[in-house]
Amino acid sequence: MVLTKTQTNEQILLKQEFLATYRQKTLPVNALVEYIQVLYDCGGPNETEYELLNDALNYYRKAVPLDEWKEASRQVAAIYGEDFIDSIPGHAFLKPYGYAGDFSVIDKMYLKTTSTNPMLTNWDLFYHQHAAAAAVRNRKTFFKNVLTERAANREGSCEVLDVASGPCRDLLEFMDEQPKHNVHFDCVEADIKAILHATEINAKHLPNIRFYNQNIFRFRTEKQYDVVWSAGLFDYFDDRTFTKLVSRLIGCVKPGGELIIGNFAVGNPTEGYMELFLDWYLYHRSPEQLVRLAQAAGIEDASRIRVDQEEAGVNLFMRIQF
Ligand SMILES: C[S@@+](CC[C@H](N)C(=O)[O-])C[C@H]1O[C@@H](n2cnc3c(N)ncnc32)[C@H](O)[C@@H]1O
Repeated sequence: MVLTKTQTNEQILLKQEFLATYRQKTLPVNALVEYIQVLYDCGGPNETEYELLNDALNYYRKAVPLDEWKEASRQVAAIYGEDFIDSIPGHAFLKPYGYAGDFSVIDKMYLKTTSTNPMLTNWDLFYHQHAAAAAVRNRKTFFKNVLTERAANREGSCEVLDVASGPCRDLLEFMDEQPKHNVHFDCVEADIKAILHATEINAKHLPNIRFYNQNIFRFRTEKQYDVVWSAGLFDYFDDRTFTKLVSRLIGCVKPGGELIIGNFAVGNPTEGYMELFLDWYLYHRSPEQLVRLAQAAGIEDASRIRVDQEEAGVNLFMRIQF
């Protein structure tokens, strides 16, 4: 249920005041927190308010020192109180499984679920309309297209290594949509709760999936794959860790196969929202940086490296051909 509260004259005035003074870009970050409080009291932002709020978030994240920005983030969370956990931003901020971007929050993004708490529904809708949320949904489509193309061009089983596989909604949709293709997935996932969830939703496809409940840094295999895929993992790594893992995964790709690594792009228009509302910080990278990292991981021939992006241009994919 979406809450449409009648706004008091005072609330309307407070919103207008923020809008008028924010345009001069001289306000302290507290003004943004107070504006979010007014939006909350009104039942959450409506669509006409999205643009200004996003704009303000991106402005302040650059204008404010990191310690003030993090304090503002805690103040925003306090506005929602104990109920915050019942929303997707609240789940992302509070990290009940101990880390950002867990399988549950990612699956809720895929399914575009909204809270049944009427004070939170509009905040979930606001969450889903962000470019970064669209990019996560698009990367699922991107992966399914890669699989379809690969599987169509080969006889026998197509072997895929899915690194940090999370909810495996992508696998479920691919196998439902393309039952004639013979694809086998080895999924390496550190969180057993993610594996249990993925097992449940993929119950009918389990003969095609094998789960390894391991940290990818400890995973060892002699097997080689047609596709090694990882999305939603490398953007948590600094360059050194990124390169180290890519150079390890290179050994897992068959001749003729491909390694594909997703990473959020520099210029992500949702960065301010992700940091303030979700306490979700990533290493954003440009296509040029991704090419340099692939080279640093041992791919000397640059013609084997390319960088693609999904529709929103927010999630990049470093692709290395073997
Ligand atoms: C943002 S989710 C992405 C899930 C999936 N790839 C997708 O795009 O739908 C990140 C996943 O990586 C897993 N993960 C994080 N660090 C890991 C590691 N070192 N080894 C294996 N899995 C890891 C988390 O448990 C989580 O399920």
